[in-house]
Amino acid sequence: MIRFGVLISGSGTNLQAIIDACAAGEIAGKVAVVISNKEDAFGLERARRAGIPAVHIDPKAFAGAAAYNAAVRFALQTHAVDYVVMAGYMKLLGAAVLEAYPMRVVNIHPALLPSFAGAHGIRDAFAHGVKVTGVTVHFANEIFDEGPIIAQEAVPVLEDDTIDTLEARIHEVEHRLLPAALAAIADGRVAVEGRRVRVAAR
Ligand code: GRF
Repeated sequence: MIRFGVLISGSGTNLQAIIDACAAGEIAGKVAVVISNKEDAFGLERARRAGIPAVHIDPKAFAGAAAYNAAVRFALQTHAVDYVVMAGYMKLLGAAVLEAYPMRVVNIHPALLPSFAGAHGIRDAFAHGVKVTGVTVHFANEIFDEGPIIAQEAVPVLEDDTIDTLEARIHEVEHRLLPAALAAIADGRVAVEGRRVRVAAR
């Protein structure tokens, strides 16, 4: 059974979707550890409630980004993590982790990459006035929001949408698309060929 290490910074609704999908047997894997850079991230509480080790690693406790990322890698390896999932982790992931987990770090982004990369994908797409945005699940590499795409789903922007209604529609898709991608990884149905990622049907 594949072991996921989930990195978070906030409320952890995507983490919850992963935990639930593992519990339901939809993903042939388990969350081995949840790591947050923020002490008050509600996702840590979600992990504790599910009996999953919840670790806060404070970037301010380290001399710099390299030392912080080495600590994150150490925590992942301590829990024998096979794949890392960035689920609302609002920090750049350092080389220490990416090198330890090549093509084994999955990120979720709330827009259709390569459009609207960065920390405000939903807001930026809405402000641009696009009629279609969406959700991207991709492998992280050393360039932010750039790595090979595993799954994407379009989400329409409706005429009377506000940023809040659009955000809610995007989150709904995220909570389905990310567990589905992780299920495919856990089943061994995902093959990376350069920039193209092939996902075989179940
Ligand atoms: C999600 O929209 C994710 O795509 C973005 O941050 C948000 C995290 O939400 N990177 P949550 O913490 O999973 O509720």
